[in-house]
Amino acid sequence: MTADSWTEAAIPDLSGRTAIVTGANSGIGYEATDMLVANGAHVVMAVRNQERGEAAAEDIRGGLPGSFTVRTLDLASLDSIGSFSQEIQTEYDQLDFLFNNAGVMAIPRSETEDGFETQFGVNHLGHFALSAQLLDLLIAGDQESRIITQSSGMHERGVIDFDDLHHEQSYDRWDAYGQSKLANVLFAYELQRRLERTELESVRSVVTHPGYADTKLQQRGPEQDGSTLRLWLMKLANTLFAQSARAGAWPMLYGAIAPSIEGGEYVGPTGLLNMRGNPGVQESSDRSSDEEVAERLWEVSESETGVEFQIE
Ligand SMILES: NC(=O)c1ccc[n+]([C@@H]2O[C@H](COP(=O)([O-])OP(=O)(O)OC[C@H]3O[C@@H](n4cnc5c(N)ncnc54)[C@H](OP(=O)(O)O)[C@@H]3O)[C@@H](O)[C@H]2O)c1
Repeated sequence: MTADSWTEAAIPDLSGRTAIVTGANSGIGYEATDMLVANGAHVVMAVRNQERGEAAAEDIRGGLPGSFTVRTLDLASLDSIGSFSQEIQTEYDQLDFLFNNAGVMAIPRSETEDGFETQFGVNHLGHFALSAQLLDLLIAGDQESRIITQSSGMHERGVIDFDDLHHEQSYDRWDAYGQSKLANVLFAYELQRRLERTELESVRSVVTHPGYADTKLQQRGPEQDGSTLRLWLMKLANTLFAQSARAGAWPMLYGAIAPSIEGGEYVGPTGLLNMRGNPGVQESSDRSSDEEVAERLWEVSESETGVEFQIE
């Protein structure tokens, strides 16, 4: 099926395939989980709050033939990422898909347990550390596996500020979000280059964005600020302009499953302003293709998280 017409109806039987979805209790992660389970996959729903995860799991409409389990993963804690990865290493022999999807957007400045600015810490560093610790399970399967990292069109606004990565000197919530989402693209491309150099062709790294999807993402900043007016405006904008969370999850599924997708590709909706519609391959920003910045970011990410990829 071509990109112009791809919908979830094109998802093949995924029986016997195992996926981890971060942020699986809400929005795009929830819808991706539902589609994977409906098509026979086994999904580890990785959620930061077990209760919220269990509540979301009750609504999984897919039901049989797939299955799922809910596990705690707080991407704002390197300890939690380590424990989660250990648990998965013990219970699973291999993985087929890792969806690095969870995220926060434009929240007031805060820090993770390890002292990282939260948007950079959760959206990029947390997923970096998680991917490193699960890579051997992704390599282990008989079939090709994929790491799908969720970015945003907002990566185009991003600049990696190596002098103030955690925005300690000055903080603009949208600049911080843009930096974290640019880091997602740089990471996904650099991972693909390293996999290729190591001739690990059974794993592909793909980066996606959902366009503009109606989820809770847009509410989190105003909620934390206690701004009822901004909360109301965000909800109104979602109602008027956003596509459904379900359609927002299509690029991740397309990026994970379509045989035509190569490692190192950027996938998003191809409709109006790349904000909605059927998924396809797109161009990311020039800054996201800067290999020097990507290498430097990789080194900084290893040293900040204390986690190394066992490739190269
Ligand atoms: N919606 C859009 O228009 C849009 C556009 C561009 C990119 N994106 C990207 O799409 C991804 C999914 O967002 P969404 O739109 O589905 O928003 P959402 O409904 O707010 O879902 C975000 C998910 O991330 C989880 N999360 C937040 N902090 C976490 C942490 N410390 N550890 C583990 N999980 C954490 C949330 O858990 P809780 O529910 O427990 O808070 C939730 O499950 C994000 O990466 C976002 O940047 C979305």
